[in-house]
Amino acid sequence: MEHTLNGKIALVTGGGRGIGAAIALKLASLGATTIVCGRTLARLQHTAGQIRSAGGQGEAMACDVADWNSVAAVADGVQKTFGRVDILVNNAGIGTFGGPLHTMPTDKWEAMFNTNLRGVFYMIRAFAPMMISGGGGDIVNISSLAGKNAVPNGAAYSATKWGLNGLTYSVAEELRGHKIRVAVICPGSTQTEFGAHEGKSPDKMLIAEDVAHAVETLVTLRPQAFISEVLLRPTQKP
Ligand SMILES: NC(=O)c1ccc[n+]([C@@H]2O[C@H](COP(=O)([O-])OP(=O)(O)OC[C@H]3O[C@@H](n4cnc5c(N)ncnc54)[C@H](OP(=O)(O)O)[C@@H]3O)[C@@H](O)[C@H]2O)c1
Repeated sequence: MEHTLNGKIALVTGGGRGIGAAIALKLASLGATTIVCGRTLARLQHTAGQIRSAGGQGEAMACDVADWNSVAAVADGVQKTFGRVDILVNNAGIGTFGGPLHTMPTDKWEAMFNTNLRGVFYMIRAFAPMMISGGGGDIVNISSLAGKNAVPNGAAYSATKWGLNGLTYSVAEELRGHKIRVAVICPGSTQTEFGAHEGKSPDKMLIAEDVAHAVETLVTLRPQAFISEVLLRPTQKP
């Protein structure tokens, strides 16, 4: 194990599976004490167990990012247990695809915006003050190339990610004076349980570890340098 993040506290939302789990394993392998959050405690405990089996430090905390009370309770727990957070990865996200916007059930809109956008606001609202008092840190938001492109039959998902990009660029300016780098990664199609890959070739898609590699690059830069946005594309269109 390398230990470039020794002594750091990292928190990854949606860390129980997929891209979030790969990011959590990577940060822990670099020495960060890594907290994974999500709604399904068993999946979180599995990731935390993998971290510990590999010799790292992992913690699981149940959290629904769309629920302010749940986010505030986790922030309180992190403050009491660790006293700080250095790296926050807002990865939790959901997507509904499969039809034009005018046929989409309205509750699907609510669920996507509440998770993908409101959830990131809640996490930043709860954890940025802790980072400011700790003297700096990194916030990495996992967006999507759907936040850069038109996505027919995925308009609402695309809108959440365009919104997340705009939020990220603005908050980056708000927090850079506090030595906090706020960056966004926009991956293309990635092999996970995320359900938007019909008709795509899995062997051409990204894997979760590609996104984790990008996160590693961002958070291990010299404090004086800042990669603010990464567009992570599969080499061949899947
Ligand atoms: N896979 C892709 O092709 C792809 C491409 C570009 C961007 N992305 C983005 O990458 C991120 C991760 O996606 P993935 O592919 O790893 O998807 P995934 O396998 O479906 O995992 C999503 C994670 O988010 C968590 N989550 C969902 N709602 C939550 C909530 N309200 N509160 C807390 N956690 C919640 C889930 O855990 P629980 O259900 O247990 O809460 C799960 O751990 C998402 O933001 C997605 O939009 C994915």
